[in-house]
Amino acid sequence: METVHRIEAVRARVRAWQAEGRVVGFVPTMGNLHEGHLRLVRHARRISDHVVVSVFVNPTQFAPGEDFDAYPRTLDADSEQLRAEGAEVLFAPSVAEVYPRGLDHLVTVHVPGLSDILCGAHRPGHFTGVATVVCKLFNMVGPDRAVFGRKDFQQFQVIRRMATDLNLPVEIVGSPTAREADGLAMSSRNAYLEAHERGIAPALYQCLHGIATALRDGERDFLELEAQGWRRLGAAGMRPDYVSIRRRYDLSEPVPDLPADDLIVLAAAHLGRARLIDNIEVADLLGE
Ligand code: PAF
Repeated sequence: METVHRIEAVRARVRAWQAEGRVVGFVPTMGNLHEGHLRLVRHARRISDHVVVSVFVNPTQFAPGEDFDAYPRTLDADSEQLRAEGAEVLFAPSVAEVYPRGLDHLVTVHVPGLSDILCGAHRPGHFTGVATVVCKLFNMVGPDRAVFGRKDFQQFQVIRRMATDLNLPVEIVGSPTAREADGLAMSSRNAYLEAHERGIAPALYQCLHGIATALRDGERDFLELEAQGWRRLGAAGMRPDYVSIRRRYDLSEPVPDLPADDLIVLAAAHLGRARLIDNIEVADLLGE
């Protein structure tokens, strides 16, 4: 596996593969890789001939006071894991390579509506930072397909909408959420949990699973289900930002006669230093 830091180097590599008719898959990450990321890389390998992974902690998606400085940077360990997974290029640009004119007065990509609800309402500007850097990374790398985790479902939808509306020539692929044995969604931010908080954290998944099961079984009092979820997280010791039932295809507010497979339940909650997010697509429970 080759590690490159410059845009010209990654672009040349990808263009050479594409000139031979090969399909190039791309997995953008912020590093500190765990099993969840490695599953994205495996997914990309299954649907592509060559795989590029980027590691870039993007300053524009962190608000002042968020964990940009503290975000773990573990490039050597990331590189070893990616080599073992068969990724062929690790693209690890510097902040100056990605934002050569600095961070002020940037041209940005804003996906209206989708960026301003749920996590976007609690982290203003976050999804504009994400959409902007992902658009830039697509232009730098030029992949045919890009794989994103469905754990960050709102991010996945923002990126999909951006790619569609801007006619970006890249297929956006969603990969299932990787979970620990007790249901907790894998996330780099789980490392912020103290030992006793790690014991509490699966309550988020259990709460979502309870709501999704009720929806699957025909319950349609959305406000009551959300309120129950809110209470359950509070009782477990978490501070919820939201517990919300939405339409899966555009995250709009649902109407009661929707079929279960159109619904998704999402939540974000603070636990100690960590802000945890998770979701369950009710369609995934329909076989159970
Ligand atoms: O999900 C992430 O790790 C980041 O938001 C992404 C997509 C790599 C953009 O910085």
